[in-house]
Amino acid sequence: MKDCKQFTGDFDTLKAEFPTLWRKVSSGADLVYLDSAATSQKPDCVLQAMDEYYRLSNANIHRGIHTLAEEATAAYENARKRIAAFIGAASSKEVVFTRNATEAINLIAYSWGRKNLNAGDIVVLSEMEHHANLVPWQILAEERDIRLEFIPVTAEGLLDMESYQEILALEPKLVSFTHMSNVLGTINPAKEIISQAKAAGAVTLLDAAQSLPHFPVDVADLDADFLAFSGHKMCGPTGVGVLYGREALLRDMPPFLGGGDMIRKVYLRSFVSNELPYKFEAGTGAIAEVIGLGAAVDFLSGIGMDNVDAHGREITQYAMQVLDELPWLHILGPGADKRGGVVAFTLDGVHPHDVAQILDWDGVAVRAGHHCAMPLHERFSVPATTRASFYIYNSHNDVDVLVESLRKVKKMLG
Ligand code: ALA
Repeated sequence: MKDCKQFTGDFDTLKAEFPTLWRKVSSGADLVYLDSAATSQKPDCVLQAMDEYYRLSNANIHRGIHTLAEEATAAYENARKRIAAFIGAASSKEVVFTRNATEAINLIAYSWGRKNLNAGDIVVLSEMEHHANLVPWQILAEERDIRLEFIPVTAEGLLDMESYQEILALEPKLVSFTHMSNVLGTINPAKEIISQAKAAGAVTLLDAAQSLPHFPVDVADLDADFLAFSGHKMCGPTGVGVLYGREALLRDMPPFLGGGDMIRKVYLRSFVSNELPYKFEAGTGAIAEVIGLGAAVDFLSGIGMDNVDAHGREITQYAMQVLDELPWLHILGPGADKRGGVVAFTLDGVHPHDVAQILDWDGVAVRAGHHCAMPLHERFSVPATTRASFYIYNSHNDVDVLVESLRKVKKMLG
């Protein structure tokens, strides 16, 4: 049994811990995985933590009094505590498990939004949002007649902070934005955006799905009211995400889904909600996945988020430098100093889907399309891009294979 806490920031040996990274693709080429912004690979110790739960302690949580149920509950709640500490939450009551970041944002729109937003109220988003932070608010806008305002994105791929000041003068009720763009890679000045939103009287929601896996994110330091992220982009499993919420705000919100576990008392015609965070966790949760996410947090903490960050910056800088030398390739977004490990680009005369297909023959896994950010692609007048994204297991060699393969694409189709 591997202990997720035993690993350090030795990035040369880390790749060995990820079973998928040693396989070949259907063409016979070695896999070079550059699609971690879509989902990261999982280390052995995370897989083992989940396997151990199913093999040894499989039982439902918060319900049984037998040994297995107690073990499962302890493992689940212990994971919550470690995740709370990882993000700097004041208490594990502020950590609500959801299916993913998308569900966490929907929870806020449904529960906080329906309680606090009325016709004419303003919600501020940005032009670089993932659909997960657009569509829930569009649904609410339709239902409640609220107004959506968007912080524009500059040609460089940054949020236009001057326009943001003008929008804040409209006294919005909520400012909800991405910490790091899944297309441009832009790391937004979250602390500044949040403090300005607060000064204008708005509640804040940070979509940290792309940032939290890559650099230290501390909710106390950011002073965020709500924050959403997914487990699967940070070495954890799919099917579990987190909504962080300031305790006072969560306490004031009505439940999202109704059912078992989220209640303290049920009568035929009414119910009393459970305490936090269970009020927002109806039904049997993703027990193995929460335990897996706890192990992933141990894994990343062992390596050290500062080391994860430094490695990501170094690889991204190298990738930007070598990709920049290809005159027929155009990168969207800002320079390496203002972005995380995401590089989306277009190739003259070649459709992104064709790029991704040919790269796959060389074993290089990238994502092609609109990356769930159609309005942002419209902003840059491109229907689609090819996106390479990096994580702790990537090396300069992976970037070199990408570049070689791109040259081949250009020769074949360009
Ligand atoms: N949001 C994920 C991505 O950007 C799925 O690929």
